[in-house]
Amino acid sequence: MSEKFDVIIIGAGPGGYVAAIRCAQLGLKTACVDDWVNRENKPSPGGTCLNVGCIPSKAMIESSEQYQKAQHELAAHGVNVRGVTLDLTTLLARKDKVVHELTSGVAALLAANKVTFIHGRGKLLADRVVEVGKKTFTADNIIIATGSSPSELKGVAYDGKTIVDSTGALEFDSVPKRLCVIGVGVIGLELGSVWRRLGSEVFMLKSSHSFLPTADQSIAKEALKTFGEQGLDIRMGAKIKKVTVVRGKALIEYDDEKGSHKEKVDKIVVAVGRRPNTHNLIADDAGIAIDARGFITVDDKCRTAVDGIYAIGDVVRGPMLAHKASEEGVMVAELIKGEFACIDLETIPSVIYTAPEIAWVGKTEQTLKQEGVDYHVGTFPFAANGRARALGETGGLIKILAHGKTDRILGVHIIGPQASETIAQAKIAMEMGASSEDIALTVFAHPTLSETLHEAALSVQERAIHAVQPKRKKS
Ligand code: FAD
Ligand code: NAI
Repeated sequence: MSEKFDVIIIGAGPGGYVAAIRCAQLGLKTACVDDWVNRENKPSPGGTCLNVGCIPSKAMIESSEQYQKAQHELAAHGVNVRGVTLDLTTLLARKDKVVHELTSGVAALLAANKVTFIHGRGKLLADRVVEVGKKTFTADNIIIATGSSPSELKGVAYDGKTIVDSTGALEFDSVPKRLCVIGVGVIGLELGSVWRRLGSEVFMLKSSHSFLPTADQSIAKEALKTFGEQGLDIRMGAKIKKVTVVRGKALIEYDDEKGSHKEKVDKIVVAVGRRPNTHNLIADDAGIAIDARGFITVDDKCRTAVDGIYAIGDVVRGPMLAHKASEEGVMVAELIKGEFACIDLETIPSVIYTAPEIAWVGKTEQTLKQEGVDYHVGTFPFAANGRARALGETGGLIKILAHGKTDRILGVHIIGPQASETIAQAKIAMEMGASSEDIALTVFAHPTLSETLHEAALSVQERAIHAVQPKRKKS
């Protein structure tokens, strides 16, 4: 007989394992099925995020920034270091250690919460039965949290050595002399910047002409300028014609409006988006709808058309972000328990971990224009912030968009130092329905980067102190 649970979760990424812990906290008999194995062929819960995504990429971002500082920035502080060298083996081992510590932590948390962890590939059959290998399990509720995998580019096959996806880009055993990144999205910018700082000559190709289309376009413009100055060679409107690998090098041929181009590189990283993991996951008679792009169809509460079956995270609509997956996991656990729960997909914060970082929450100025919303803008540059000056990181700005009549904050957009941390303040303010005046009336510690947020709010009120305040045109 199949073992029966209150809830079975398929997938132990930030969506699945968080849902499992919350279900267990709520007293539900919970199982979590996951098939991830690490290089030692051992189960490694934590999904893309912990194993090959958020965590290893941020570990490498940090190491590469330290290397860059030691090489180029410490001297300005009067700290002279000579003979700075890169030990890539140690850098990668440190990254692997961070991953191992966190994935072990997830396994320990699941065990401590008495979640039954089932290692293997799960398939959803009809009548809420989950098949894992030769065994079957049943549950009153099932949460699908199987995440996503790198999309493939037609005609550019991954070979795991010369042409790699984002996972391969976390594992190069030497610094490529020339690196081409296809795709100028979040992964391309973060990992392209890592290898540039570690010494690669990097150029990036993208098919369209839009740069970071979901970001506020004034911030995107600033970012494009800054990355160019740093030496990231971003080429837009590039149509890839052919990629061949000869004796360990790749030859890439592409067309753009200037003509046809041929480039020889040591490695190619393809990062052109991710696709949901739904292939061979659900039996046809299980009643779950999958759209043309492979996403499981759900409503705003992550419910599928079948009672008691939910789907969360990268496998459903909305931004492919770890914190979005986790919050959906918590919401679904609470709904299963019969509690009220909801999530506002409009105010999920986004962060791009470049240097400087880019972060935003809420609406962009271009969206407000499209929607015909009456809004006011306040901006403040980090160049006029004392802490940013002391850090030596003066590029960028904070921009606040507030409703023209109610002053309620509609969006906050940052490019600058530690934007990933400051955006949380904006998110809290928006969650509480704050106005820009609420932030303007708040006392911020001095000197902090957060004072830039304060000044941007003062600027919406036309009274920033540390910059000449332009007056709004009266309409
Ligand atoms: P996943 O994390 O993909 O987990 C799904 C799990 O389900 C996996 O363990 C998978 O093996 C398992 N699984 C799949 N099918 C089955 C099956 N049939 N049976 C059993 N198990 C199955 N997001 C951020 O918010 N911040 C970042 O900084 C960030 N950086 C990233 C960097 C990189 C390089 C990449 C690739 C992604 C990054 N992301 C980041 C995105 C983030 O990793 C994903 O949004 C997040 O992991 C999605 O969580 P999830 O739980 O939906 O799925
Ligand atoms: P993306 O959607 O961010 O960017 C894809 C890029 O590929 C775009 O620039 C697009 O124009 C380009 N592209 C698409 N087709 C192309 C083609 N045929 N030729 C050339 N260029 C092409 O996807 P990416 O970078 O792969 O990341 C996937 C997801 O992972 C992101 O959407 C994000 O949700 C998540 N992620 C989040 C991070 C964070 O929160 N900091 C970090 C890394 C990933």
